[in-house]
Amino acid sequence: MSKILVTGGTGYIGSHTVVELQNSGYEVIIVDNLSNSSIDVLDGITSITGKKPAFEKIDCRDKQDLAGVFKKYSGIEAIIHFAASKAVGESVEKPLLYYRNNLVSVLNILELMGEQNACSLVFSSSCTVYGQPDVLPVTEDAPIKPATSPYGNTKQIAEEIIRDAIHADKRLKCIALRYFNPVGAHPSAAIGELPNGVPNNLIPFVTQTAIGIRDCLRVFGNDYDTPDGSAIRDYIWVTDLAKAHVIAVERLLANKNKKGIEFFNLGTGKGLSVLEILEVFEQVTGVEINRQIVARREGDVEKVWADPTFANKELGWKAETSTEKMLETAWKWEIALTAKRR
Ligand code: NAD
Ligand code: UFG
Repeated sequence: MSKILVTGGTGYIGSHTVVELQNSGYEVIIVDNLSNSSIDVLDGITSITGKKPAFEKIDCRDKQDLAGVFKKYSGIEAIIHFAASKAVGESVEKPLLYYRNNLVSVLNILELMGEQNACSLVFSSSCTVYGQPDVLPVTEDAPIKPATSPYGNTKQIAEEIIRDAIHADKRLKCIALRYFNPVGAHPSAAIGELPNGVPNNLIPFVTQTAIGIRDCLRVFGNDYDTPDGSAIRDYIWVTDLAKAHVIAVERLLANKNKKGIEFFNLGTGKGLSVLEILEVFEQVTGVEINRQIVARREGDVEKVWADPTFANKELGWKAETSTEKMLETAWKWEIALTAKRR
């Protein structure tokens, strides 16, 4: 049973990935400083998989502490590195926090990979690296445009740091997964997204409006060059996304001779506008969303969706879950969460 270190494993995408890893027979060690997640997530993971993952409350910026994890759990074969700060708006206000958190962590992980001979890395990247692509759907070889936020810049720089480290140390290898817009929750509603305060992202804001926590959803812009004027994204179910990580780990571990870095777009290949998402949500749940059209949000791109052909072919992976099902799971999770909070 291979041992996998998952940084940020109590977070949103991390926790769903830990479930899929454990269900596939991997031994998981989570490292998280709980800056944007709760220790209770471990109970959710345990209730789904029947197994509590090992957990260490450690900050990835602390290399000595991280080294201790490699010693304690000897034989770690691969690392999935989720731990990062991820709020685009906050990164504009606190750029140095973002550069330190997202990049010092990557440096520590890469140094330890070499020192501990744990040579396989799956890295959480983002479609933000493409900015507003000139050609849609966007493929992995599309130009990397100047980032529109410090957060986006950390993902671009991290990809470059990893590329350089791998070039210099031929033992190291990485699969960088560029996520489009992950949404929804595990079907059990035992784990899901836990936004800190007022949600920045569309779906948690929609579900909180539907359940009455928020009065009104603001639709950021209806004057984009899109069929209904609202911005378009590629929404992918978080469990489909999580499964791609298991395949990526298997690919790295199975092929000892494969070296270097590979990039994959993880999306559905289908773009949906904000207004289309609201329509589907209302159909699925029967709940009307009070909304108001407001100005565009600074830093937003107009439209982006993936060409996932490379991931489909090379990884044998496909995001097939319908928008209806994604939104159903998001709604079920919001109901469960609200019941727990009462
Ligand atoms: P999340 O905030 O839910 O999870 C990140 C986890 O990392 C949290 O549990 C947090 O406590 C932990 N963490 C942060 N800094 C840490 C540090 N220095 N040391 C240890 N733990 C730390 O976020 P998520 O949505 O699950 O995102 C996971 C990864 O995917 C991030 O790298 C993010 O940038 C990337 N990503 C997310 C999205 C998205 O829309 N959610 C899209 C593209 C890429
Ligand atoms: N939106 C609204 N109202 C809201 C929230 C969002 O209209 O209250 C709109 C946005 O303007 C955008 C769309 O809904 O057009 C999606 O917005 P999100 O904030 O949910 O997602 P983003 O595409 O801005 O960014 C997300 C993550 C990033 C990640 C990126 C790509 O927040 O961290 O997806 O994966 F990098």
